[in-house]
Amino acid sequence: MKKERIIEDPYLEYMEMATGGESQASGAPPPQPDQAKPGEFKYIGTYTPRVDGRKIVTGEAPFTHDLVFDGMLQGKILRSPHACADLVSIDLEPALSLPGVKAGLKLAEGRVNWAGQPIAAVAAVDEETAEEALGLIKVEYKVLPHVVSVEAAMAQGAPAVQSKGNVASSTPYARGDVEKGFKEADVVFEQTYKTSWEVHQTAETHGSVAKWDGDNLTVWDSTQAVQSVRDGLARSLSIPASRIKVIKHYMGGGFGSKLGVNDYTVTAAQLAKEAGRPVKILLTRQENSYCVGYRPSAWMTVKAGAKKDGTLTALALKSHNSGGIGQGDRVATMFTDVYKCDNVKVEEYSVFLNACGSRACRAPGHTQAAFGLEGFMEELAAKLGIDPLELRMKNYSTKDKGDTGIPYSTKGLDQCYKLGAEKIGWARRNKKPGAGSGPIRTGIGMASQIWPGAGVPGTLADVKLYGDGSVEVDCGTQDIGTGTRTHIALVAAETLGLEPQDISVHIGNSDLPWAPNSGGSQTTPSVAPAVRDAALKAAEYLKALAAKKLNIPATDIVLENKKAASKTEPGKSIDLKELARTLRRPMPFHGERAAMAEGFAYQTFGAHFAEVEVDMETGKIKVKKVVAAHDIGRVINRLTAESQVVGGITQGLSAALFEEKIMDPETGSMVNANLHDYKIATAMDVPEIIPIFVDVVDDRLNNLGTKGLGEPPRIPASAVIANAVFNAIGVHVREIPMTPARVLAALKRKEAGK
Ligand code: MOS
Repeated sequence: MKKERIIEDPYLEYMEMATGGESQASGAPPPQPDQAKPGEFKYIGTYTPRVDGRKIVTGEAPFTHDLVFDGMLQGKILRSPHACADLVSIDLEPALSLPGVKAGLKLAEGRVNWAGQPIAAVAAVDEETAEEALGLIKVEYKVLPHVVSVEAAMAQGAPAVQSKGNVASSTPYARGDVEKGFKEADVVFEQTYKTSWEVHQTAETHGSVAKWDGDNLTVWDSTQAVQSVRDGLARSLSIPASRIKVIKHYMGGGFGSKLGVNDYTVTAAQLAKEAGRPVKILLTRQENSYCVGYRPSAWMTVKAGAKKDGTLTALALKSHNSGGIGQGDRVATMFTDVYKCDNVKVEEYSVFLNACGSRACRAPGHTQAAFGLEGFMEELAAKLGIDPLELRMKNYSTKDKGDTGIPYSTKGLDQCYKLGAEKIGWARRNKKPGAGSGPIRTGIGMASQIWPGAGVPGTLADVKLYGDGSVEVDCGTQDIGTGTRTHIALVAAETLGLEPQDISVHIGNSDLPWAPNSGGSQTTPSVAPAVRDAALKAAEYLKALAAKKLNIPATDIVLENKKAASKTEPGKSIDLKELARTLRRPMPFHGERAAMAEGFAYQTFGAHFAEVEVDMETGKIKVKKVVAAHDIGRVINRLTAESQVVGGITQGLSAALFEEKIMDPETGSMVNANLHDYKIATAMDVPEIIPIFVDVVDDRLNNLGTKGLGEPPRIPASAVIANAVFNAIGVHVREIPMTPARVLAALKRKEAGK
């Protein structure tokens, strides 16, 4: 094992994956439309309780934090207190000579670029000893000037975070001619929207346990990606991937912050090797707040031209995105794709700061973009005196790249608009923003969403039939909290005529058949079709066996109610349990998620509608109701799907009203790295939420016609609240979180007529 380590940027890997840059090579043919007709499904599309729900709520389900092994040591990481410094020396000796300390590592050399950067690590018999040992490590720094705000980083003479300067431009995008488009417009309007840094704040902090058995390494990790963590560990430690097993039983959230191998996981493995004992590293809530990423900020200046009737003639975006030492999120896609417009221009810049790198966070780029684009559309509608819903329908596209690309395979956004507007009572909104009176103003707003969520061809799953009639599904995916075990169980049960509880689901282990990261809203549309494929093969096999037993053709057989039964001769059937006895050995059936049909674009779509109350005296916002209409193809489990919508809206509301990672310009550290000062929405803030699914099954996409849902409901969830606030008070709060101070400042701006 080499001493040097390569820590990869899980964020870059994520963006490539989520934006559909790659898909796993697959020789599989395009999907066959599913045999089942609507209404023929017993479980798919219904409200199915989680197969492991009881285990989770009773505390029986093991999380990485719960794991304890014989002789296990606790690892701790010493972090830089300086946002920028040169490391002169690290002396581990005083720490290593403390009784109970079993291993130590230096983790940095040269330039330190952010407060919290790992410097050294120790493993000791317990947490207290490890903590004490960290205090004994002698580190000498030469402190250098730092920069932790976008304004400061862009100022003349700012300390250089990167040798090439603090601002880097991303590849620009353009189609048509925006200048020509502005000339053709009746109205040209420009505005700037800002979003802040949001910490993922997973309920379970980050952590790993590493255990060696000779040259073989097993890692238990709170991760969204057992396969990627294995591959990343192999590269970081320069050992064969075949000697590494990564296990994740249950986890308390990831939201994009746990997508690839983490530095502390590599550290745990190295300390464990050195000590010859298992090592557990769990980050504290404080470390979790400032060392493992956040959603980067975006400052979006949007300029558009439109005809009097609302037709967009040009749309331009200039955005400064900041993700600390890493690049910020690209926010372009919503701007280039959502609305029909021939003339579009996008310029994006990353602004580098001395802060921990950002990470993918539930729909990276798109949530920020939704706040900018959809906020702008609401303001444009008011400028033109057009209903905001009408403005969106006026510029509705049926092809990607704003109607200039290839056609969408299916697009149910118009239905989302229609059903969502009906349900919220769109007609009740203020025809003119801010038209109400009195100290409490109410308003209704809307916002739209797109997101890939198509799933990954090449995803594998096995269905295994045992001689006692029991059934197992093996898939190297993981449940990040969305209910993956349940959707696997219900798809297998559906196909084999069993009940979800009859299926043993084996996931969360990198030795199992390959599945992608649980990010990019791709778990269900990757895994469910692979399970369906394997289960259909198993079903064919069982039908052939039953045909022999019952002496009827296999085509006459249906699997239902735990039996293989004749469709035409009532009463002619055999129990699946009995049928399985004829198996000579456990029978595996391999399934694969096929490629989607070419020549079409695949996206999820959705629209949210919100109703708010704003207190004109205090600037406090109360969200009363959110209606969320989504097109995600076929819904697999309506119960867990609705949970995703409730979660996405809660997170979006929280970001809209409360969340902000605040950096101290003096020390260069995060000042609110705890759950007391970093505000998150609580149950008291959550409004009535009404999820709607439009059920546009996409047969070209996969054998179940299903798309992903993890991220879509997060995308318009902050924007829609800002838009409802605009409708209530008649001035747009163009920066989130919309704190009472920002709301009052916006009202002042309105009074001043600006
Ligand atoms: Mo991702 S940001 O884990 O879907």
